[in-house]
Amino acid sequence: MKEFKRYLVTAALPYSNGPVHIGHLAGVYVPADIYVRYLRLRKKDVLYICGSDEHGVPITLRAKKEGKTPQQVVDYYHSMNKKAFSDFGISFDIYSRTTSKTHYETASEFFKTLYQKNEFLEQDSEQLFDEKANQFIADRYVTGTCPHCGYEKAYGDQCEKCGTSLSGTDLINPVSVFSGTKPIVKSTKHWYLPLDKYSDFIENWVTKEHKDDWRQNVVQQVSSWIKMGLRPRAVTRDLDWGVPVPVEGAEGKVLYVWFDAPIGYISATKELTNDWEKYWKDKDSKLIHFIGKDNIVFHAIIFPVMLKAEGTYILPENVPANSFLNLEDDKISTSRNWAVWLHEYLDDFKDKQDVLRYVLTVNAPENKDNNFTWKDFQNRNNKELVADLGNFINRALVLTKKYFEGIIPERNNLTEYDNEVLTQIKIIREKVTESLELYRIREAQYFAMDLARLGNKYFADTEPWKLAKTDIESVKTILNIGLQIVANLGLLMEPFLPFTAKKIRQMVKYQGDIEWDYIGNTNLLISGVQLDKPELLFEQITDEMIDLQLEKLNKTKLENQNEEKQKIPLKNNIDYEDFQKLDIRIATVLEAEKVPKTKKLLKLKVDTGLDQRTVVAGIAEHYKPEEIIGKKITMLANLEPRKIRGIISEGMLLMAENLNENLSFLTPDKDVDNGSCIS
Ligand code: MF3
Ligand code: ZN
Repeated sequence: MKEFKRYLVTAALPYSNGPVHIGHLAGVYVPADIYVRYLRLRKKDVLYICGSDEHGVPITLRAKKEGKTPQQVVDYYHSMNKKAFSDFGISFDIYSRTTSKTHYETASEFFKTLYQKNEFLEQDSEQLFDEKANQFIADRYVTGTCPHCGYEKAYGDQCEKCGTSLSGTDLINPVSVFSGTKPIVKSTKHWYLPLDKYSDFIENWVTKEHKDDWRQNVVQQVSSWIKMGLRPRAVTRDLDWGVPVPVEGAEGKVLYVWFDAPIGYISATKELTNDWEKYWKDKDSKLIHFIGKDNIVFHAIIFPVMLKAEGTYILPENVPANSFLNLEDDKISTSRNWAVWLHEYLDDFKDKQDVLRYVLTVNAPENKDNNFTWKDFQNRNNKELVADLGNFINRALVLTKKYFEGIIPERNNLTEYDNEVLTQIKIIREKVTESLELYRIREAQYFAMDLARLGNKYFADTEPWKLAKTDIESVKTILNIGLQIVANLGLLMEPFLPFTAKKIRQMVKYQGDIEWDYIGNTNLLISGVQLDKPELLFEQITDEMIDLQLEKLNKTKLENQNEEKQKIPLKNNIDYEDFQKLDIRIATVLEAEKVPKTKKLLKLKVDTGLDQRTVVAGIAEHYKPEEIIGKKITMLANLEPRKIRGIISEGMLLMAENLNENLSFLTPDKDVDNGSCIS
């Protein structure tokens, strides 16, 4: 394996359009953090880069929804998210933002370089235009039916159902998110990155060179893109929020967010160090992008093509992409408030950052989507962190206190078993190392927990509490070994559970350096040192605490159901003539009976003032026949008669649909004759 002089690790820049949640942590920031902390322990030269992605439609849509300016939105969420990450021990070297001055300059320069190298195609093309809002609508400003899979809520940049990348004009029945109206097509000029020109380069690089060392989901996605044929991709947009396109004739246009955002990694590095070029341009630097699977094409195709076209940059050595984390079997969603927000978690589970880090890593969606449930969270805490890790450490400390007044005892003659246990520590370190080097973070944490299990087993097998009466010398040895394991846990857990690892080191008064290579050292602690009073590292999470969380989610679910109904979008405008075609009248229900063998249908006889006729209505679940006889109702009288269950229905009752699925008749509030027209 090639040795690199330095590492540059990036984590996808989250949009600052909302708070960060457990899906963010599990998908990108915790695994990257574990990897980086591990590298730091190995004394590698490493930078961990992140920041807020502050352009693009997600931001402007949120601004519109909140009645704020995009700048206000990004300012608010940038500082909120920066704090949340830091609260969870995500140890970025910099958390910058793409609205920074350095970023505007860097992104503009990058564009200009490609422009001057003649890398772009300049093209007029037909784009969707919202006449009512008087603006072009691309990307997430437009929804419609996916031409590939038929999903009805596909966006103008991508179908989230089948993953296909789209452009607005591909959508069937497009609707503007701004005004809810149907857009027209209009011509506009844009600059295109000719991905097709780089198809062979990408194919060789990803699907041949990195076929085996990259995750299969990444290689597969890239090769399916290549099979579909790479097309030139517009890297500019007609919007007023973003980095202005820095060439003449581009007034009112900005860089496409996916063009400027990854350059944000470069700008942030620049802000961090004057030495930034060493990290970005020297072949001895190892660049790794941690991302979610929805970002694969951008990090494995588009950004590499940009870097390649620019010509002076290195390419990533790996792009570990995680799948998605669901919450209680439902897709996490910012807009539906279906998430566990990091700041809210900390309100309810104070100082339990590591518990969440642990559970999210155990369930890391590395190779497939995974599910977070509160019940599992509770179990993992109680059965693994409390019972395996916490219990072992506590035992070692409590027994030391009990038999030796908290002073680390000496180690005497070692049995074969003692030796075996001590050699296991290094073996575990090597297993963890190997997994981490392969970005198998979840497996790495599992192996790391083996050290706690080793300690527990050692105590269970040697039973120092029994030996204490007969052979105190052996107890010294056993507890010394136990405490050495504890100290080793204080190093080994540092990448995974940094808050806990620090506490562990303090508990055993570990004074040495925090180095990966020390793991396996069986003399991390010196005998004779007085330890403090033992404290618990983890506590039980009770059913009440979990129920509280489940209730919160239930409330959200109900709110969403209500909101979905409220939000039926306004239909397109109609002419007065269209309205006049409807013959809407007041009528009285004369008879009502259930239609046999149906659940929902009632057969009514109504007096319309002109005639008496039969109407079949789907209201049996809401009204009993006897309730409605004699009632004045509103009906559409000139709807073409239809046969329903063998009965000819001559008209349609007009009903209001209530939020909680209640139907209601439209009954006039004064006495009105049958046959009165609604106009
Ligand atoms: N903001 C994007 C998202 O949340 C990720 C941007 S990654 C970058 O999906 F490379 F563009 F920065
Ligand atoms: Zn689709």
